[in-house]
Amino acid sequence: MDVTDPTTNRERWLAAIKAARDAAAVAELETRLFGAKGEVLDFVRSVTSLPKDQRPAFGKAANAVKQEVEQALAARAEQFATAALDQEISSADFDPTEPGPRGRRGCLHPITIVQNELVDLFTSMGFRWEDGPEVESEYFNFDALNIPADHPARDSQDTFWLAPHPGLGRNLLRTHTSPVQVRTMQTLTKHGFHPPLKVIVPGRCFRSETVDKSHEHTFYQMEGLVVDRAGDRGVSTANLIHTMKTCLRVILERDVQVRLRPGFFPFVEPGFELDVNCPFCKGKGCSVCKQSGWIEILPCGMVHPVVLQKGGIDPEEYTGFAFGMGLQRVAMLRYGIDDIRQFMGGDLRFLQQFPEVPR
Ligand code: DAH
Repeated sequence: MDVTDPTTNRERWLAAIKAARDAAAVAELETRLFGAKGEVLDFVRSVTSLPKDQRPAFGKAANAVKQEVEQALAARAEQFATAALDQEISSADFDPTEPGPRGRRGCLHPITIVQNELVDLFTSMGFRWEDGPEVESEYFNFDALNIPADHPARDSQDTFWLAPHPGLGRNLLRTHTSPVQVRTMQTLTKHGFHPPLKVIVPGRCFRSETVDKSHEHTFYQMEGLVVDRAGDRGVSTANLIHTMKTCLRVILERDVQVRLRPGFFPFVEPGFELDVNCPFCKGKGCSVCKQSGWIEILPCGMVHPVVLQKGGIDPEEYTGFAFGMGLQRVAMLRYGIDDIRQFMGGDLRFLQQFPEVPR
């Protein structure tokens, strides 16, 4: 065999490359052809043994062969590298039918958490969930609740009034969930039904407040209303207090110390303010409880006879109690949040501290 013939060498080496069956064979071939004493390099160097006039033509041909063989070898090595990768992937513990990594789920808003728990608790005690409109009439928001137009109690509820609409009376964004008390009683009595009646009304309310650490223009309340026969076997203030204590114990997840003070609301008589011992300072006095050691949490009372009448219920025969709870306030106590603006602020760092929604 003529080791100096470019054509013969080219064919021989390309055939050897093609015959290499794995990466190891390619590596071996690389040493054989391009190593220190490699055949290809020897072949290129053999130019020096030729007569001078033949050298340029040979040099050119030999270099072309060298380049081609080099490229063929690299391509063959690449083929085996890709095949090895494919092999690795297919033999690894890789199951394409398995679900991908689980992303983080969202959290429930703290007000939703508190509301859900309260709804659970009250429905377990036989209460029914009632709903009412956020755009309310002046009648249900005020008049039906024994708050006539000239009553000073209207001033304490800074109201967002809506533009008057001919024939529709005056409308507003409800300032509390109490209007649903009368709505519910009317719906019941309109169809000839009568108490007992036990409802809760969670919902959004609005007041034209200057927003600060403890005031929001948009807030959530949960109203409660119980109406049953008057007299010894009917509802009493004792039932009201027991229900309120149960509710606070469950929602604040601890036994709470409460105190009852007289409070004025035109739709209850007597009316009370139920306060809890401040959990931030344990009653010593701090900025949250305005140094008093107590936090107002649950205004409540015995339903005023006028309100029962507006609902179509005879106050001689029936009596009831009602309460209205600020859900933000409950969530603040429960989670130790000291600024009400956090709830509507939309800051994810705040929101993501609450438990993820269960799957
Ligand atoms: N609706 C009242 C408010 O938002 C709170 C309230 C007080 C509700 C006494 C009641 C109640 O049901 O009995 O200011």
